[in-house]
Amino acid sequence: MATETLDLGQIPDYWTRQHLLSLEELSAREITLILDKAVLFRQTMAKGPKRIPLLTGRTCVTLFFENSTRTRTSFTLAARRLGADTIDFSAATSSLAKGETFIDTAKNIEAMGVDVVIVRHRTPGAPKLLAQNLACGVINAGDGAHEHPTQGLLDIMTIRQRLGRIEGLTVALVGDIAHSRTARSNIWGLQKLGAHVIVCGPSTLVSTRWRELGVEISYSLDAILPRVDVLNLLRIQFERQTTRPFPSVREYAHLYAMDRQRLAKTKPEILILAPGPINRGVEVTPDVADGPHSAILEQVTNGVAVRMAVLYLLAGSKGLEEGGGED
Ligand code: CP
Repeated sequence: MATETLDLGQIPDYWTRQHLLSLEELSAREITLILDKAVLFRQTMAKGPKRIPLLTGRTCVTLFFENSTRTRTSFTLAARRLGADTIDFSAATSSLAKGETFIDTAKNIEAMGVDVVIVRHRTPGAPKLLAQNLACGVINAGDGAHEHPTQGLLDIMTIRQRLGRIEGLTVALVGDIAHSRTARSNIWGLQKLGAHVIVCGPSTLVSTRWRELGVEISYSLDAILPRVDVLNLLRIQFERQTTRPFPSVREYAHLYAMDRQRLAKTKPEILILAPGPINRGVEVTPDVADGPHSAILEQVTNGVAVRMAVLYLLAGSKGLEEGGGED
C-alpha cells in the first residue's frame, strides 16, 4: 500500500472531544467538521488504497459484544489506513465467560496500551460507562436502541454527496423505528443540519413519543412518498423483538417495502438508503436495492471515510494525547 500525504488543515479550537458517544451531544459545526474531513479522506482513498500515517504508533481495539459486518470491518480498515495498530476483541472467546465484568475487561485491554476503544454493546449507555471509566478515547459503534453515531454520519455524508445539501431536505426513516439506534442518530444529526425528518412504520414500531424529538410521524409510506427527498429503510430487527409487531412479514412488506410501484410515486431524484444488513423483499425489493436510486454500497464506502475522520479527530484531540499511548 502506498503512503499518501494529505493536507487536512488545522483541527479547529471548537473540536475538543475525546469520545464519540452520540450525535445528540455534537453541535452542527462539529458534525460538519467530521463530514468535511471524511470527504477529504474519501477523495484520497478514491485514488486507490493508501496509508495516511496520521495515527502511527496508536492502537485501536474493536470491542464488539454484538455481531457486525460493516462497522467492525470499516473501523479496522480506517484505523489501518491511518497507520494505527488494530486489535479485534472477541467477546465469545474472552474471560467474560469466567465472570470478568465489562468494565474490568475494558480496563485490562486499555492497560495493554490502547488509545481508542470502539465498542458495540446491546446495552444503551455502555460506551458512556466506558468513557467514564477509561482514560483512552471511546467510540460508540452501536449501543442497544440508543445511538449509532458513525452510521448516522455516513448516512448524512451520503445524502450530502448525492443531493448536495442537508438543509431543507425531507428525510423519511422507514421501518423498525422502535429498535433502531440508527434512527436516533439520524434524527439528531439531520435535524441539527436543517432537515425535516419523518419516522414511518406500523404504530407498533413507531410510538407517538418520537414527536418529542421534533420529528413528524406517519403510519403510511404511500402517503409520504411524493414529498420525501430521501428514504432510509431500516431493517426489521427480528432478533430484538419479543413479540411480532405485525401479523406477518408479508403484510409488513405489502405496506412498507420499497418496490418499483412505490418508486414510481416518488420525486424523480429520490435517494434510497439502508444502513444494512437488509432483509431483501421485506424493507426493499432487490430491484430497488440494486437500482440507480440506491446508494446502499456508497454508504459502506463512506463509512470507511467517516471512521477515518472520527479516528483522526479524536486522536488529534488534547484529551486523547494526554490519556492515550505514546508517540
Ligand atoms: N449498519 C451496521 O451497523 O452494520 P453492521 O451491523 O454489519 O455493523
